[in-house]
Amino acid sequence: MNLMSRVTRLGCALAFCCLALVLWGVPGTRALNNGLAMTPTMGWLHWERFMCNVNCQEEPDSCISEKLFLQMADLMVSDGWKDAGYQYLCIDDCWMAPQRDSKGRLQADSNRFPNGIRHLADFVHSKGLKLGIYADAGNKTCAGYPGSYGYYDIDAKTFADWGVDLLKFDGCYCDSVKHLADGYKQMSLALNRTGRSIVYSCEWPLYAWPFVKPNYTEIRQYCNHWRNSADIYDSWQSVRSILDWTSSNQESVVPAAGPGGWNDPDMLVIGNFGLSQDQQVTQMALWAIMAAPLFMSNDLRHISPEAKGLLQNKDVIAINQDPLGKQGYRLRKNDNFEVWERPLSNLAWAVAVVNLQDIGGPRSYTIPIASLGKGLACNPACLITQLLPVKTKLGFYEWTKSLKTQINPTGTVLLRLESASKIASKSSL
Ligand code: GAL
Repeated sequence: MNLMSRVTRLGCALAFCCLALVLWGVPGTRALNNGLAMTPTMGWLHWERFMCNVNCQEEPDSCISEKLFLQMADLMVSDGWKDAGYQYLCIDDCWMAPQRDSKGRLQADSNRFPNGIRHLADFVHSKGLKLGIYADAGNKTCAGYPGSYGYYDIDAKTFADWGVDLLKFDGCYCDSVKHLADGYKQMSLALNRTGRSIVYSCEWPLYAWPFVKPNYTEIRQYCNHWRNSADIYDSWQSVRSILDWTSSNQESVVPAAGPGGWNDPDMLVIGNFGLSQDQQVTQMALWAIMAAPLFMSNDLRHISPEAKGLLQNKDVIAINQDPLGKQGYRLRKNDNFEVWERPLSNLAWAVAVVNLQDIGGPRSYTIPIASLGKGLACNPACLITQLLPVKTKLGFYEWTKSLKTQINPTGTVLLRLESASKIASKSSL
């Protein structure tokens, strides 16, 4: 039976499919109204790789300094990162001088940032990139630098005057959950009052969770993305615990994500020391499924071709940046396998099968096609392409068939499913 006749015979199924997609397309709760982060933000953030290294005497190439960011800015353009979509070059903690200036403004450490942040922002903008900076809602930053409590308007204005395009706002040293919530809200409003477009990256729910269940409807109205879970480390255990946290809490967090506001499972540590190639594939695939902001924290001066290829993989980035803006979720967990899926625009779906067993060799897993995409992804048929670990066209699969995959320990197979009806209607145009 050819494709067109299959499509015609199953018209009813497709009508149902379209209705379902219309319903999925209904926007969730209102997002922060700054027009930013319509797809997850992409960039580079210094924390996981460079932390709070302020010792430029001993380690001039890896201390938090103007030089580090100038070098990363150059590489983001020359090595294809910007073209791949990584646009925001972001400073984390430890950029500040220990004291505010005489007018109460934050200032950069003058030894490490001799030309100040505005100069850095100008350079970054001249490269077609955007600059991110870091501050904290409490009395001090997590590393002990001046906090923004009591200075929200001054700090927002300072960042806007410097030409900053993103603020990562941390939540250390807040005295209460009320202080935390007020701080995040006030800074959001203060940024808005500056009139500059500044992506607002929050950690509000992470700090709220030990005391109250965060109100994601409210958080989404103030933040462009928000951290939920503990800091990422350069290890498989850390990546796994973030995946476990996300799937265990998916009923709360998945509906909150959408254009303008995203759950942030923290930085990509691909290209560093702690993950095997298979584990790096897992992080990239699952961060795409989770519609996560993609902030690499690595050293772009020293990165393997494999890590670079993975981070710049256009097909995987297209899933992460899919304009429908729906976060994926864990569909199934059995026998140390997990199946995750994410609805995409044009009736397509992304599916990730993770082999969580970290002993033995590759294991096979068979997926009944009808179980994917709420029974609709491949009804009546779909075209399946494996994107990771290696791009392979797998061909057309009918609803009644199964797909057998082979997955390395701690690795992932990432698939893209295109609706056969969509393909048929495109080719008949
Ligand atoms: C943590 C935050 C990290 C990093 C660090 C800086 O609280 O979660 O991502 O910003 O503070 O001190």
